[in-house]
Amino acid sequence: MQRASFRHITAAVLAAVFSISPARGEEEPKNPYAGVQAAAEEGKRLFLKTGCYACHGHEAEGAVGPDLTDDEWIYAPTDAMIFNAIARGRRGTVMSPFADQLTPDEIWKIVEWLRERNRQRNAK
Ligand code: HEC
Repeated sequence: MQRASFRHITAAVLAAVFSISPARGEEEPKNPYAGVQAAAEEGKRLFLKTGCYACHGHEAEGAVGPDLTDDEWIYAPTDAMIFNAIARGRRGTVMSPFADQLTPDEIWKIVEWLRERNRQRNAK
């Protein structure tokens, strides 16, 4: 009797520990517009309106600034890192922060447009 209930409790404790343990917390923000075509179009409009094209080209294919449509990123393999590059800029480079000119919503739309450009390119 004693033994059985002890085992029962042990099982409950283990179940609790395992349900908590998978590294949660620190989850990166996800693009709320992932896969949304209309948002990508809006992102392109914002990219042109904000003047990103001056350095990255009209189709984000790269000029003074890097090509943003390929799979090569300086530090940005995730949507959240691309978001941060745009919001915070890259210190020590001409890539300045745009958080004061674009809302987070607008930045996510630009991220989605860049992802869409990348998908189109990979599909070729
Ligand atoms: C004055 C030129 C200039 C303008 C304007 C500019 N960028 Fe950049 N951008 C750069 C340069 C140069 C880099 C590379 C920085 C580095 O070496 O880390 C960069 C880097 C980036 C990166 C990261 C690329 C990578 O491979 O990690 C993203 C994303 C980006 N820019 C998006 C934008 C967007 C969106 C806008 C408009 C809101 C914009 N940039 C405006 C010059 C510019």
